[in-house]
Amino acid sequence: MTARGQRWDPERYRRNAGFVAELGAPLIDLLAPRPGERVLDLGCGDGALTEKLVALGAVVVGVDSSAEQVAAARARGLEAHVADGQALAFAAEFDAVLSNAALHWMTRPDAVIDGVWRALEPGGRFVGEMGGAGNVERVKAALTAALARRGLDAAAVDPWYFPRPDDYAGRLAGRGFRVEEIALIDRPTPLPGRLGDWLETFAEPFLFQAPARERPGLVAEVEGALAGSLSDGEGGWFVDYVRLRFRAVKPA
Ligand SMILES: C[S@@+](CC[C@H](N)C(=O)[O-])C[C@H]1O[C@@H](n2cnc3c(N)ncnc32)[C@H](O)[C@@H]1O
Repeated sequence: MTARGQRWDPERYRRNAGFVAELGAPLIDLLAPRPGERVLDLGCGDGALTEKLVALGAVVVGVDSSAEQVAAARARGLEAHVADGQALAFAAEFDAVLSNAALHWMTRPDAVIDGVWRALEPGGRFVGEMGGAGNVERVKAALTAALARRGLDAAAVDPWYFPRPDDYAGRLAGRGFRVEEIALIDRPTPLPGRLGDWLETFAEPFLFQAPARERPGLVAEVEGALAGSLSDGEGGWFVDYVRLRFRAVKPA
């Protein structure tokens, strides 16, 4: 299921989050798909990155829990299905599973890893990038403080799982994967618009705690709190992303 309260509107996503798939390119290099390989794109979104895999000759199936995102991926001519990444039902059907910017929305990581394991052939690779420990920490702190001033508890609606490398590596190894590489990557990321647009695209579970009439004020308050640290003073904003990137193999 999609995180509680988070909607994925493909048009808004394209406008405010095109950088997500663009910055996923190194993940494709890490996967190094060979023509004809069967690849599952887990949390494929609107298919912008999936399309790049297809262009390299891979035979790709995308899954995503958002029916709207799946429709947008299909509109690109991709094979995509609505499915919860925490309850995958594939059995030894893929040479590789790729996931970009989606795993941190799945708060039951062992269920995800279990489904990926079953979906892979022996020898198959699991290559992913997600928010890692410290991701969007400043944004989250400002949101938490602004909600607390209204008597609201951010932790109660936090939809994100941002693990440390040792946490995620331990879970992968615990299921039997050989972890070939895993690391945190600091990646302060310029936004195409305002921080408020980012909040409205990615942080709805927090914003939705406040009544609709108070949300513009809440967003303005968070922007005000972060103007000194996450804006360049000339209208440009960035977000303090920290990614966890990994490559693991299901032994043959
Ligand atoms: C930030 S987008 C990334 C999309 C795409 N991978 C890309 O690189 O552009 C995160 C995606 O994860 C999907 N998602 C969130 N929770 C999910 C779940 N439990 N199962 C499958 N997909 C999920 C969302 O619907 C959304 O499309």
